[in-house]
Amino acid sequence: MATLYSTHCRSYSPLTPSPSSSSYSSYCSSSSSSSKLGHVAVSSSAPKRFLAAKLSVLSQNQNVARMQDGAVATAVTPIENDFPFKKLKGGLLSEPSTDECKDAVRFDINENESTVSITVVGASGDLAKKKIFPALFALYYEGCLPKHFTVYGYARSKMTDAELRTMVSKTLTCRIDKRENCGEKMEQFLERCFYHSGQYDSQENFAELDKKLKEHEGGKVSNRLFYLSIPPNVFIDAVRCASLSASAGNGWTRVIVEKPFGRDSESSAALTKGLKQYLDEDQIFRIDHYLGKELVENLSVLRFSNLIFEPLWSRQYIRNVQFIFSEDFGTEGRGGYFDNYGIIRDIMQNHLLQILALFAMETPVSLDAEDIRNEKVKVLRSMRPLEIENMVIGQYKSHTKGGVTYPAYTDDKTVPKGSLTPTFAAAALFIDNARWDGVPFLMKAGKALHNKKAEIRVQFRHVPGNLYNRNIGTDLDLATNELVIRVQPDEAIYLKINNKVPGLGMRLDRSNLNLHYAARYSKEIPDAYERLLLDAIEGERRLFIRSDELDAAWSLFTPVLKELEEKRIIPEYYPYGSRGPVGAHYLAARYKVRWGDVSVEQ
Ligand code: NDP
Ligand code: BG6
Repeated sequence: MATLYSTHCRSYSPLTPSPSSSSYSSYCSSSSSSSKLGHVAVSSSAPKRFLAAKLSVLSQNQNVARMQDGAVATAVTPIENDFPFKKLKGGLLSEPSTDECKDAVRFDINENESTVSITVVGASGDLAKKKIFPALFALYYEGCLPKHFTVYGYARSKMTDAELRTMVSKTLTCRIDKRENCGEKMEQFLERCFYHSGQYDSQENFAELDKKLKEHEGGKVSNRLFYLSIPPNVFIDAVRCASLSASAGNGWTRVIVEKPFGRDSESSAALTKGLKQYLDEDQIFRIDHYLGKELVENLSVLRFSNLIFEPLWSRQYIRNVQFIFSEDFGTEGRGGYFDNYGIIRDIMQNHLLQILALFAMETPVSLDAEDIRNEKVKVLRSMRPLEIENMVIGQYKSHTKGGVTYPAYTDDKTVPKGSLTPTFAAAALFIDNARWDGVPFLMKAGKALHNKKAEIRVQFRHVPGNLYNRNIGTDLDLATNELVIRVQPDEAIYLKINNKVPGLGMRLDRSNLNLHYAARYSKEIPDAYERLLLDAIEGERRLFIRSDELDAAWSLFTPVLKELEEKRIIPEYYPYGSRGPVGAHYLAARYKVRWGDVSVEQ
């Protein structure tokens, strides 16, 4: 809730929508080649989750809501007629239909004549079970997959088709907002899933897979997508065998590669070289699932389609930008992988840096993948390589709270004793171009912190010659606007503004103009993997990382990573479940920045 500048003021909450607010979805639209914008599932169903949390008493006048802290807010007028959509039965203004996806799946000029086979390499693994199969099912459920498709699981584990289906069925879920025919759809989907057991370095085993795929393809044009959900040490073997023995005969062959893309500039270059021995760059889809998150996709829309933001997007108006990632759990179960990488490689060099590049890039010539990726590379290449002085690292230690003892990072049996691998890092980065000269871009990422969150915070400069200084107090920075893009959980975009507290006096407080997704849009937000898988099937590369982007990203982080390791810099230890090392605050303070996520009002 808002912090008041004057002690007597009553805080006013963000406006709360009325139960009848409508919403629309932006998924699987009939899109142009580069965007899936603007869609239509307008529903009159109440956003109950949000209302339950926010409203304690609805007054007799349904337009006024009393908040838990006693403040009163007028409900937003329903926006049913914002969009010229047909009114349907049951008050729906429109509903998603499979037609919405048809145009999206544009590879399929004649869907009767072509097929898509999706092979999940490493199908027995965690990521495949948790994310890939559920995302494929969600796409199927939404009608986004082409008419003729087959899903193959491939891994060394021995499994029958039936066993794969049982394994997969355990992690499939239906959307909360659309459960009709879910069981039936699951059955239909599972019938299209098969399994082949083989080694990752065996051309012979991939040739067997090829034979099975051909049987399903039945002589139609065959398009093949391989998803490498395996550890990086077997990437090249699998690509070699898939490419030599199981490439599509007459359609496209594409390969999705999961991170990590190396550990530094050299190993990343070696991986790229290895992949390019067997694949062209346009066959390689390097996935960074943060690029598939709804609010990250929305960044460009927010900036480039709103006149109130675009002119402000520069050093002239922005004081600093913060990219914050935190998880409230440790590396439990993934310590073996994590210890070789650490938080800087795991989160900063990819997820946060990708968001930064999208945030800070110049206006692309168009929304085409290459135009966007060109701008991202340019901004990455304009950045100063990170220096050790601009970096703070931490590692979580054991902590007991409420009678429960939480383990230290090094308590994990898969982590070497005495490991110095950082589980927390904060960094100050700078873009040396005309737009961003001198603006600190701060990043903070950590495991085993007090909450789970990912957000972007844009802190604006203060209004020159502010008339209201007297009402604000001495710290003008506290009264500046801040735009918060909460990527997860509970997606929201809110803008902190100064506002007069209603009444006869002149008291100001800081309130939020709040776009809270759960309240505004009734449709559940698709998982990032759904969007990215669909894009790979479509051949849309906008959200995948090009090799020069990857090189530029590694050049920024490789020197400092080497220095940290060579000098064996000891991380600052922080208790499991805390807010992380205090060093992060000193780092920010050096650039006159206060982390936005630590203030009382968030
Ligand atoms: P797993 O460790 O679960 O490995 C996937 C499969 O690969 C296993 O089921 C196993 O299948 C095979 N495998 C495991 N170790 C080896 C090995 N040393 N040599 C050969 N094959 C092996 O990985 P995940 O599913 O967690 O992740 C897959 C990829 O995605 C990795 O590159 C990971 O870094 C990345 N990733 C994972 C995320 C996650 O949340 N899990 C998030 C982001 C990226 P079998 O023995 O049957 O062949
Ligand atoms: C992965 C990291 O890339 O992203 C994990 O390897 C991290 O360490 C995960 O937990 C976070 O993803 P999400 O989508 O759950 O925020």
